[in-house]
Amino acid sequence: LGAGALAALAGCSGRTGREVLDTFGKLDFRNPLHIPPLAESVVKDGQRVFDLVTQAGQSEIVQGGKADTWGVNGALLGPTLRARRGEDIRINISNSLEVATTLHWHGMRLPAVADGGPHQMVEPGGTWSPAWGIDQPAATLWYHPHPHGETEKHVYKGLGGMFIIDDDEESRLALPRHYGVDDIPVIVQDKTFNAQGQLVESGRVGVGMLGGTVLVNGTAAAVLAVTAEHTRLRLLNASTARSYNFGFSDDRSFTMIGSDGGLLAQPVPLSRIMLTPGERAEIIVAAAPGEKFTLRSFPQCLGVADSRAAEVGAQDKLEILELTAAATLSPSAPIPTQLATMDYPDPALAGDMRMFQLGDNSINSKFMDMDRIDLEVKAGATEAWGVINAHNQPHNFHIHDVQFQILSMDNQPPPPELAGWKDTVYVPPRMTIRLLMRFGEHTDPVIPYMYHCHLLWHEDMGMMGQFLVVE
Ligand code: C2O
Ligand code: CU
Ligand code: CU
Repeated sequence: LGAGALAALAGCSGRTGREVLDTFGKLDFRNPLHIPPLAESVVKDGQRVFDLVTQAGQSEIVQGGKADTWGVNGALLGPTLRARRGEDIRINISNSLEVATTLHWHGMRLPAVADGGPHQMVEPGGTWSPAWGIDQPAATLWYHPHPHGETEKHVYKGLGGMFIIDDDEESRLALPRHYGVDDIPVIVQDKTFNAQGQLVESGRVGVGMLGGTVLVNGTAAAVLAVTAEHTRLRLLNASTARSYNFGFSDDRSFTMIGSDGGLLAQPVPLSRIMLTPGERAEIIVAAAPGEKFTLRSFPQCLGVADSRAAEVGAQDKLEILELTAAATLSPSAPIPTQLATMDYPDPALAGDMRMFQLGDNSINSKFMDMDRIDLEVKAGATEAWGVINAHNQPHNFHIHDVQFQILSMDNQPPPPELAGWKDTVYVPPRMTIRLLMRFGEHTDPVIPYMYHCHLLWHEDMGMMGQFLVVE
């Protein structure tokens, strides 16, 4: 299976998808898309400082009533954090929930003590103030809770948000970057609501919970008013279990400019982009004055047998976000033909490949144990990791602290949309994916980073391991 086969997996010819309707029938797109505010910060003693509060609240998401939700500095989701490469930042988190939680900075290179994994719990009423220096390329990252065994629930209740990193290389390019105007966070999550508008937290299938209503930035049936010729969409699959095969209702093509860890080397024209939970893609879509079209998810295979397609949501057709272009659009510069310089690791420096076999809620036949370190990596080391999905179930693979390069998928080179920096990758059943990465210089003799399946129910059930980065 190579690039072609992967495209075939996504395309899954010959089957017709089932329309997923929201709780109250066919979606009537009418709600202005909520744009998460940019988090306020102050610069103090050379550090950019953010203040976040994890809190409970109520949100009216669908008709029928309010849902009990959790959010950061609000009732649902959280503000967009933004910082520039080279800055030192500190984030003060106060937990006003009645349960302990954490916030993890997904995709970030940072010391393990600041990572926000299951070893950095913030007790109810407690505070936690991780600090680190931003030292990685411009990218669309995100933050979400990571309490061991309860990550799915905490994300589903609404904790999370986007974290945008800027750098000089990206700033020099003629790309849409007016936040909330032509540069739009698109946080996609599916949830199920009852007739009273409350969140339903049950009904798991093989991959976890598949919701019947798709929200963007917490808005159901959302409409984005397009005001420029080009709009940059920062797509984030923040769902607990569902994968999306994104495209537009009229099959128009778009341009992918970035993956999980930053800009691609060159823009890639596409008509579909599949994102499994945790993955991101920055795309630019062009619109003509007065046009109306919809971002949606198309049926996909996910590499499972037909009989199991419903169990993984592979065949669902979902309407996600309506885009409505104004009668007059502000002009946009052509998309640059060269984007980022890629400083890929040298494969010759990697030693023996470490192998990770994804099984039934386990990795290498082991379930997550908070007290067991699964492996140690040397600071600055270049390593090759091989990930095999030996299970008849979709899984993906996420590694903390690093961005990796995909070397091969069943011995074939990755398709261009997977050729940039990644921190989370889809591993279809029976496929072997080889990754190459260079670890950072942050060491800690006792506090580990995590690697895991980002289908959060699988992670909670034990599909996670721990590694130390040591001197
Ligand atoms: Cu996005 Cu360990 O997580
Ligand atoms: Cu992570
Ligand atoms: Cu999994």
